[in-house]
Amino acid sequence: MIRTWDKQKVNEILKRNFPEHKFITVSNRQPYIHNLKKGKVVATRGPGGVITALDPVMKSLGGTWVCSGAGEADKLVAKNGKVKVPPKNPAYTLKYIWLTKQENIGYYYGFSNQALWPLSHLVFMKPVFRNQDWQIYKKVNKKYAKNISQQIKGKKAVVFIHDYHLSLVSKYLKQSDPQVRTIMFWHIPWPTYDIFRILPQRKEILKSMLSYDLIGFHIGYFGTNFLEAIASEVEAQVDKENDTVRYRGHISKVGGYPISIDFDGITEESKSREVQEMSKELAKEFNLEGYKIIIGLDRIDYTKGIIERIKAIDCLLDKQPELKGKIKFIQMGEVSRIHLPQYKKLNEEVNSLVEQVNFKHSKGHWRPITFVRRHLDFKEVLSFYQIADICIVSSLHDGMNLVAKEFVSSKFDLGGMLVLSHFTGASRQLDGALMVNPYHTEEFSRIIFKALSMKNKERQKRMKKLRESIYQDDIWNWIGNLISDLP
Ligand code: G6P
Repeated sequence: MIRTWDKQKVNEILKRNFPEHKFITVSNRQPYIHNLKKGKVVATRGPGGVITALDPVMKSLGGTWVCSGAGEADKLVAKNGKVKVPPKNPAYTLKYIWLTKQENIGYYYGFSNQALWPLSHLVFMKPVFRNQDWQIYKKVNKKYAKNISQQIKGKKAVVFIHDYHLSLVSKYLKQSDPQVRTIMFWHIPWPTYDIFRILPQRKEILKSMLSYDLIGFHIGYFGTNFLEAIASEVEAQVDKENDTVRYRGHISKVGGYPISIDFDGITEESKSREVQEMSKELAKEFNLEGYKIIIGLDRIDYTKGIIERIKAIDCLLDKQPELKGKIKFIQMGEVSRIHLPQYKKLNEEVNSLVEQVNFKHSKGHWRPITFVRRHLDFKEVLSFYQIADICIVSSLHDGMNLVAKEFVSSKFDLGGMLVLSHFTGASRQLDGALMVNPYHTEEFSRIIFKALSMKNKERQKRMKKLRESIYQDDIWNWIGNLISDLP
């Protein structure tokens, strides 16, 4: 199979199209977080799709990644706010922005995650709008722009900005540095106009977005929703044929660019002796030998369908009691946004549901669900993928979902089956997975049972197809298409 893009071609196009430009990536979340463990600084990779996707890109392209520093030891390791990462094999520079507690509350917990996040995900969680959050959101976006400008020093640069936390950065940045080229990649869904128009600050956000040169979404549908919002709210010329918008003389290109993962890197790392050994150790530690293993791996977030997944496991054991003592479901969860009441509540709900289902179905020492709450480094995640027979991704709404793609990429021996929610961007690409509607518990449990009972031959055929599609559309394809489309 021929690939359009690989690491080398992406490096080449960046040099060819933007020869004298600095390459700067910008996000809220930091790719590496430095904490203290027994007095020593330990760096771990942060959670979330943005980091999974971009860390390999930055390792290959180099440059600077501007992000907010939240680790207790970030200030200790940074000189002038900068530190080289990854710690063992430095390949690019992190430039930290230090946010105050008040800025974090208004910009991150407030406007980003209580207004924009629920607004963009259709999971029946009402957005909360507070004027003060919006003011702080603007202030922090300006602070980002100022910090980026200090890195650019009046030179040419391609600035690749990520996500809903930073929708206004390009506007502010171009006020001081009109020579920069900016890309916004929106990592979450963009809702239909009916929903988007609930946002009180919609006009200002849309107009600011139009100062980006390229605006990328995971799927074309989100881009269409965005264009519809523009057509309804802004006096701009929308060219639907060419997917461009002209606003006050500036042209923005809008498109669908399905994000992906480093297929080759994950396949190779999964084959490594370290990961293979680690899987054996984890299997011992969690007493998994001899069981069919089902896994789920998420940030604990109400969009991920974790409650629905546990209910489906409960229903499966009700309907197929012969599975008791034969399967184990491992839910791995990374806590985030815990200071928000919705997230605290969800954590408590997950805990109590796990307890309830475990008690109901327990048999001797056997319990169906193990909840792994500790932070797992990437090698441990890959090791869990190796052990798993089934991986469940049951998001209620998700821009893409990279766990699905990582799991498939790690299954180099064609073992395992992916159960995937219809409501992920990934479901539009991953033909071969068993699709579910996570809201429909009985149907969901039936699909898990189907995955458990699938014959080897069919499973391998499906996994092969899944792997082929990710091989073709890997992370290099994503970044290559974005860079070559940047006007
Ligand atoms: C989603 C967002 C990312 C974010 C990630 C982790 O995937 O699109 O921007 O990095 O969640 O969320 P957190 O709030 O924990 O940084």
